[in-house]
Amino acid sequence: MTEKDFIPQENLNYPKKGKVAYKAPSNIALVKYWGKKENQIPANPSVSFTLDACATRTTLTYHQKEDKSDFCFDLFFEGKPKEDFKPKIETFLKRIERYLPYLREYHFTIETSNSFPHSSGIASSASGMAALALCLLEIEKEATVNQDSDFFDKKASFLARLGSGSACRSIKGNLVQWGEHEGLENSTDLFGVNYPNKVNDVFKSFHDTILLVHKGQKTVSSTVGHNLMNGHPYAASRFVHAHTNLAALEAVFANGDLNQFINIVESEALTLHAMMMSSTPYFILMMPNTLNIINAIWTYRKNTQIPVCFTLDAGANVHVLYPESYSKEVMAFIKTELVQYCENGHYICDKVGNGAKKIELK
Ligand code: DP6
Repeated sequence: MTEKDFIPQENLNYPKKGKVAYKAPSNIALVKYWGKKENQIPANPSVSFTLDACATRTTLTYHQKEDKSDFCFDLFFEGKPKEDFKPKIETFLKRIERYLPYLREYHFTIETSNSFPHSSGIASSASGMAALALCLLEIEKEATVNQDSDFFDKKASFLARLGSGSACRSIKGNLVQWGEHEGLENSTDLFGVNYPNKVNDVFKSFHDTILLVHKGQKTVSSTVGHNLMNGHPYAASRFVHAHTNLAALEAVFANGDLNQFINIVESEALTLHAMMMSSTPYFILMMPNTLNIINAIWTYRKNTQIPVCFTLDAGANVHVLYPESYSKEVMAFIKTELVQYCENGHYICDKVGNGAKKIELK
């Protein structure tokens, strides 16, 4: 497929007004997307677990308006007007207008809320952009007779990518792969797809307990971090490394080798932060308690042989990953040894989930 496939061909009869709602989950990358080209094209492929509990719910109310010269929308976050989110949404609407040519014809009311606590330091751009993309695309679906659901999912992911790269991995469930990679059938830079190859059952119910080390805003945004990969001295080898790690993970997904899984996933997390520490300007998003948690996990794993590991996103919080069969032991470990390193003792229990869902409105 090419981006042209997402431009509607016909003159569709769009609805005059309507209301739609979606819930879209967050995701956690195992092989990280860090570095991008123009138009939100990733510099390397990535793969993620779709989460379940961490999600955004968005309701979109729309009606056609007379003046079609500009975008027009009101935005409410957790019930209150949210002016500072508006520029990001406006940029998003501009980027996707070519693929949803009706956007200027409507007035939109966007009401959005997160299941995870506000300013928990958890990135909401992935779930937020995915939920909004789904709602906006639903208008096209309303106007299309028998729209193929596979095409709908691909286009939703394609649009979400233009809002935030990682958001394209928040439409489908379980394991989602994004970015061209040799040997992975149908892999594309344009949208995320369900990981196509064999997946051992152990990965279908993996747990992710997110330890909230720092709940405030990050000092450097992901978008700025991605840009710092341009001209980064290690960028070229990092992008090759991501392909190598993805290829190695393919074998692990099939055979369920958790030791190998741990090696790859932890190396990816630390490599991501190594890129931050070696860019110009350099920066550090980990905090002392991030390292305390990592060290405690390593000690616990060595002593118990329980296959628990960590990954990080672009922040100080730690995602603790482990198979469902060890959830009792690992939760006891988290409560007795790791919660002390969390801000106000806060953490979120999550696990692999099934992807975005339409919310039926009464
Ligand atoms: C470290 O998707 O937030 O979480 O495309 O600029 O919106 P933009 O960046 P974003 O970057 C996510 C980076 C990451 C790794 C990952 O999720 O793959």
